[in-house]
Amino acid sequence: MLKKRDILIDTDPGVDDAIALMLAVRSNFFNIQAITTVAGNTSIENTTRNARYVLDLLDANHIPIYSGSTEPLIGKLHTAEFVHGTYGLGSLQPKNEIQLTHDAVDQMIRIIKAHPHPITVVTLGPLTNLAKAIQQDASILGNIEEVVIMGGAIEEAGNMTRAAEFNIYVDPEAAAIVLKADVRKTLVTLDACNHVELPLSHFDEIKDANLRENAKKMVEDYIKNTLELESESGAKAYDPLTIYYLINPAACTVKEYDVLVETKGEHTRGMTIADRRKVPDKNNVIRVVMHIEADLFKQDLMKYLNQEEIK
Ligand code: RIB
Ligand code: CA
Repeated sequence: MLKKRDILIDTDPGVDDAIALMLAVRSNFFNIQAITTVAGNTSIENTTRNARYVLDLLDANHIPIYSGSTEPLIGKLHTAEFVHGTYGLGSLQPKNEIQLTHDAVDQMIRIIKAHPHPITVVTLGPLTNLAKAIQQDASILGNIEEVVIMGGAIEEAGNMTRAAEFNIYVDPEAAAIVLKADVRKTLVTLDACNHVELPLSHFDEIKDANLRENAKKMVEDYIKNTLELESESGAKAYDPLTIYYLINPAACTVKEYDVLVETKGEHTRGMTIADRRKVPDKNNVIRVVMHIEADLFKQDLMKYLNQEEIK
C-alpha cells in the first residue's frame, strides 16, 4: 500500500466539491488533515454546512472542518447558486447544524507549520483563505509540498465570464497572491476539465444506496442548470478532476507557463493569462494541467467511490 499523502482541502461545496470530497475520502490515497471552507459557490454558512453533510455521508467526521472567508479580499461575493442550487447541493436541503468556527486561516497556518513534513494544500474554491494565510505568515510556504488549485483557463474561454473561470473570478486579488507565492503550484484549468462530463446515469454505479441517492440529488439539478447555461449534457467534474490529478498524475498532461492574473480589466478581471510567446517571460512559471484522460477518470471515480475507506 502506497503511503497516504498528507493534504489539506480548502473548498466551497458546491456539487462538484462534494463529489471531490467523496473521491478524496474513499480513494484512500490521502490523510486529510482538515477541510477549510470558503464562500464561493454559495455562502460560507452553506459551504460549511455542506462540507459537514458530505463528511457525515461518508462517515468521515474524524476530519475537522474549519470555516473561513465570507467574501473575497476586495469587492462583493459572486456566488454560483444558479448552478449549484439554493443551498449549494442541487435539490438537497441539508438540515444539519451550521457550525462556523471563523478560523480557517489560523488553522491552515497552524496545521501547515506543525506538520512534521511538507503537506499538500488543495484549493477547490476561491483562493481567499490561502491568500490570507500567506499574507499573515509567508513562512508556511516552506512546509508546503505543492499547492494544487482548481482554477483558470489558458486556451479555453471562461465559465463565469467570457474571460474568467469562476474560482479566480470571485477573488482575483487572492489568486494573484497565491500564483506569485514561492511554492510549487499546479493549476487544474478549464482546459483540463471541459471535455469531461458525468451523465446522471454514471452515478447509478455507486453501490452504497445512501451515497448514490444523495449524489444523484446533488448532480441532477447541477446538470439541469448547466444544460440551460452551457448546453452541457453531463456534470462538469472540475473539483473531482483536481483530486484525481493527485491520485493519477500519469493521466494528466502538464505544461509550464508563466501565468498572470488580471485584476483590473473591465472585461477581463479574473482572467489567467499564460505567456505563450515563442520567448516567454519566466518570472513565475507554474505547472498547468491542460488535459486529463476522461475515460480513466470516470472509471476510477466509481472504482474509488465503491471502496471502503481505510481509516
Ligand atoms: O469553475 C469551476 C469551479 O468553480 C469549481 O471549483 C466549482 O465548484 C466552482 O467553485
Ligand atoms: Ca469548488
